[in-house]
Amino acid sequence: MRHAIYPGSFDPITNGHLAIVERGLRLFDKLIVAIARNPRKQSLFSVEERKEIISEALDQHARVEVDAFDGLLVDYCKRRGTHMVLRGLRAVSDFEYEFQMANMNRKLDPGFDTVFLMTGEDHFYISSQFVREVATFGGDVSCLVPPGVSKRLIEKCKKGDGT
Ligand code: PNS
Repeated sequence: MRHAIYPGSFDPITNGHLAIVERGLRLFDKLIVAIARNPRKQSLFSVEERKEIISEALDQHARVEVDAFDGLLVDYCKRRGTHMVLRGLRAVSDFEYEFQMANMNRKLDPGFDTVFLMTGEDHFYISSQFVREVATFGGDVSCLVPPGVSKRLIEKCKKGDGT
């Protein structure tokens, strides 16, 4: 069985991420959507909230597992018995960061590899950061994120704990 890890912050997951999962499922038998725990990065949604949101959004996909990990991605991949990672690539600006990360990971583990899927034209401008920002200022993000995210963003922003 060919499985791959789709790692990220997913704070929050967007329709762009969901499209990558759907396309990734054509390449792999199973995908593990893995939320990186990063205590140094301030997040809007807790890891537990993100896990719940992603599980809800991907409920219909039996071949998807949602998990969270600490530490290095290469170590997590080893623990999960795969060396394949899936990432979406949006625009030129993503390239340098992704190129460095893929090569750093391969330096740490020569068996490691990253498969990139080019983000489609409907999603190339969507980022979690912009979604958070637009929602914080009361903008409508319902066409950019799954319904569960939109609902929770409105609740968070009402409570005033948005970024
Ligand atoms: O959604 P993001 O924030 O672009 O995802 C980045 C992520 C989580 C994939 C990356 O930061 C990561 O793999 N973090 C785990 C720690 C690690 O392995 N760092 C070395 C990679 S160069």
